[in-house]
Amino acid sequence: MAGHFKLLPILLLALFTLTVTSQQLIGSINCGGVDLWQWSSDFTFIPWGSDDNLVSNGEARVVPSSNSLFVQVMNTLRVFTSQKKNCYPKEVTLGQKVLVRASFYYGNYDGLSKPPTFDLHFDGNFWTTVETSSTELTVHEITYVTKGNAVSVCVAQTKHDQFPFMSALEIRSVASGVYDEDEVDNNRALFLINRFAYAPSDPPPSISRNALTSTTDSLVVTTLSPSNGPYYIITYYSEVNSSSKRSFELYETSTSGSNSLWSRPLSPSYGSVDQRYIYNYTVDSITTISLNATVDSDLPPLINAIEVFRVGDVLTSGTDSNDVEAPGSTIVAGKKKSKLPVILGTTIPSFLLIWIAAGIITIVRRKMKPANANGSATG
Ligand SMILES: *[C@@H]1O[C@H](CO)[C@@H](O)[C@H](O)[C@H]1NC(C)=O
Ligand SMILES: *[C@@H]1O[C@H](CO)[C@@H](O)[C@H](O)[C@H]1NC(C)=O
Ligand SMILES: *[C@@H]1O[C@H](CO)[C@@H](O)[C@H](O)[C@H]1NC(C)=O
Repeated sequence: MAGHFKLLPILLLALFTLTVTSQQLIGSINCGGVDLWQWSSDFTFIPWGSDDNLVSNGEARVVPSSNSLFVQVMNTLRVFTSQKKNCYPKEVTLGQKVLVRASFYYGNYDGLSKPPTFDLHFDGNFWTTVETSSTELTVHEITYVTKGNAVSVCVAQTKHDQFPFMSALEIRSVASGVYDEDEVDNNRALFLINRFAYAPSDPPPSISRNALTSTTDSLVVTTLSPSNGPYYIITYYSEVNSSSKRSFELYETSTSGSNSLWSRPLSPSYGSVDQRYIYNYTVDSITTISLNATVDSDLPPLINAIEVFRVGDVLTSGTDSNDVEAPGSTIVAGKKKSKLPVILGTTIPSFLLIWIAAGIITIVRRKMKPANANGSATG
């Protein structure tokens, strides 16, 4: 046991070094709940704070244990039965790039089996219409550059007798090199549609390290519909086999035919991460994006991760009316130097992090009084 305690600070250090490289926590709000530490679905171990001192309105509620989710913070919520619109404010630095993730789990907390629908806003902009469920978690995530010195996330009632609520709100700062202004218009928010990282715990076809490789010469990586765009799509590649030639191209296949998205064949680098992205991409019918091996490739296509965003309208600027809309750009496609993507934290160290966190939780549970981690670790 003593050996474990000496390891604890090293384990904690490793954990935080790996997870905060591309993101810093600004706030993790456990709506209607208490302060606690929680292992999160994107493989970070983070402190959550109660919303008691953040909002004066609303009532705290608990999801019945029969419907409770594995993630503890999702089992409490704050419901707003008065005022049409209720907001969570959080201070940030003007011009900071932030990732905001709002989670909603109805879980039949009120026993009425009537999951409500309501609107979500951020900083005075419409975000989305939230449709909640008795059995499933609803999560919405955006990334944008702030135009003021606070992030304000609001729920707004749109239907009589359907009361808005929120289960959890996470705000993180994102390193400025991620979704950089040389590829995106920073006057617009990016609405996450889909993020997939092929980790060792996912069991699809044949996985070598954290990549998905196909057994055939093509691999469909996403399907896009015309209504959700325009899109910003980022794909990540890292070679796992240095001894053979792998080469493939990205294709779009729509009901109206097939076109190459990127003309130059791609051979991922071994030991580093390559990205390919496309911005302001629109489709006019249901379209699949696939990786197709070139004729001279010895190996099938490979991919490590993909993120698909909807590019939003130009953000309202609050107090600043001098914002100039960036000139319209046509589709941009290209290769850039690998900058740590937000999702890297989930692709590369995920199983290592699970292992570390399991170790920490075990140690903390077994030995620690809730007081002081350092004191206990050395004691
Ligand atoms: C690329 O692969 C997709 C998916 O298998 C396929 O539908 C499409 O026809 C292929 N395109 C070319 C040009 O081979
Ligand atoms: C690399 O690819 C070759 C086939 O070209 C295969 O024989 C070998 O096992 C692969 N190595 C790894 C590490 O996957
Ligand atoms: C996207 O492209 C269209 C024209 O194809 C242009 O009008 C628009 O301004 C572009 N949007 C962005 C965000 O670059």
